[in-house]
Amino acid sequence: MIQELIVSTQNKLGVAHLAPMGIHSNGDDIIILPFRPSTTLNNLLETHTAVLNYCDDVRVFAGCLTGRRDFALIPAEKINGVVLACTLAHTEVELVRIEDDATRPKLFCKAIHTVNHAPFMGFNRAQYAVLEAAI
Ligand SMILES: Cc1cc2nc3c(=O)[nH]c(=O)nc-3n(C[C@H](O)[C@H](O)[C@H](O)COP(=O)(O)O)c2cc1C
Repeated sequence: MIQELIVSTQNKLGVAHLAPMGIHSNGDDIIILPFRPSTTLNNLLETHTAVLNYCDDVRVFAGCLTGRRDFALIPAEKINGVVLACTLAHTEVELVRIEDDATRPKLFCKAIHTVNHAPFMGFNRAQYAVLEAAI
């Protein structure tokens, strides 16, 4: 299954980065597939951690692609990372192994900690339209 969500990462200096990504999940495997070049990829290789934010605020998806990434962040609970403050739920992950590729490496991660913050109430048509446009 592919889940469209917001990946938050940090570099070694603690500079946070948000990016929408289609995450592949297969049993316990969580696979992040960034196209090179990618700040998300660089950060994951530097710190080996990321947060998957299950977010229904489509402004975050659109904002990341239009250069507006100044969304509020809070510290992750079990890893050194950041969580999107408006997310409905999040999973903190650690990088386990990499299948390298010149175009799109596969980053296999394991879930460390998942938190539910608020219920998902569904998307209206306008929200779906923004998400599709962002994709
Ligand atoms: C819903 C959605 C899913 C996306 N999935 C991916 C993905 O799986 N891999 C990828 O490299 N970019 C994906 N993108 C595009 C990235 O978010 C965008 O190119 C971003 O800048 C990634 O590069 P970065 O890691 O340097 O931020 C997706 C965009 C959207 C809106």
